[in-house]
Amino acid sequence: MNTKTKIAGIELDSCILNASGPKDATMEELEAIANSASAAIMMKSCTIEPREGNEEPRLYVFPEGCFQSMGLPNLGYKKYIGFAPQLKKFKKPIIASLAGFSKDDYVTMVEAFQRSEVDLIEVNLSCPNVEGKPIVGYDFEQAEKLLKSFVGLGEKPVGLKLPAYYDMNHFQQMAKLVLKYNISFLTCINTITSLIINPETEATVIKPRKGIGGVSGTFIKPFGLSNVRIFYELLENKVSIMGVGGISTGTDAFEYLLAGADAVQIATTFEKEGPGCFERINNEMKEILKRKGYNSIESAKGKLKYL
Ligand SMILES: Cc1cc2nc3c(=O)[nH]c(=O)nc-3n(C[C@H](O)[C@H](O)[C@H](O)COP(=O)(O)O)c2cc1C
Repeated sequence: MNTKTKIAGIELDSCILNASGPKDATMEELEAIANSASAAIMMKSCTIEPREGNEEPRLYVFPEGCFQSMGLPNLGYKKYIGFAPQLKKFKKPIIASLAGFSKDDYVTMVEAFQRSEVDLIEVNLSCPNVEGKPIVGYDFEQAEKLLKSFVGLGEKPVGLKLPAYYDMNHFQQMAKLVLKYNISFLTCINTITSLIINPETEATVIKPRKGIGGVSGTFIKPFGLSNVRIFYELLENKVSIMGVGGISTGTDAFEYLLAGADAVQIATTFEKEGPGCFERINNEMKEILKRKGYNSIESAKGKLKYL
């Protein structure tokens, strides 16, 4: 059985790929992803200028997940544009992830990546970890101004990486914008703003932003699933959806397919387990699909039953 899928018309050999963030900021790391079973090569979210990111300690790994405030350490967008031609030889879709600090930043980067050799452009509207930078995905007026400024700058499909929503009114507002501006795909969800305390030291576990960071891993799967499901229903299959959040097994990936995902991305499990996780999760998911009589990703997509 194959687990091929399509995101905004771009073919993926399987529905499992890396998420933007862990181990995808340098050429060596991107080559390791290219040589793994990840169906695409997703790059670290880039900014106009290179960034060192936040002060250490900024990443706390615990059994159920990760908690971090990395602050977007990356090499600057020009480097990632330069990496794309070198990554072409791996014959996998290449996905850029962009994180601007202003409308001009987004326009500059979308324009540049539209002229580059990447296949898809994921615009990150959900980074919670930069001091003084609000999450644009929660400000619908601001989000509309941004979308208006960068759609139509080229032919490559542009998608949005969204924060988790909890209120139906917010889902509806975002879905309206997605349809109005012909956004090609959604990636749901980014990390969830939270606090982890060490009761022994009575202190925070990370240094930046008074210990407030983004949690990922097992705890956030139910939020990722609800976001995928609600957008799947609101968008009526007109927009590809990538699910991300708390996937560490084939069962987790299968649940995202039932919710309506076309593909799933893996961050925390890749950070902890390394590039072997993509093949393992794909094999586990194939077993489940076979056992349940599904012969493709498409046949399982959205098939959640209601009681
Ligand atoms: C160390 C780390 C760095 C991350 N950096 C980014 C980033 O640069 N851009 C982005 O869109 N998401 C970033 N994320 C969020 C992930 O892409 C993903 O949305 C989130 O971690 C949930 O998936 P998971 O439970 O599989 O980790 C980061 C996550 C982690 C753990």
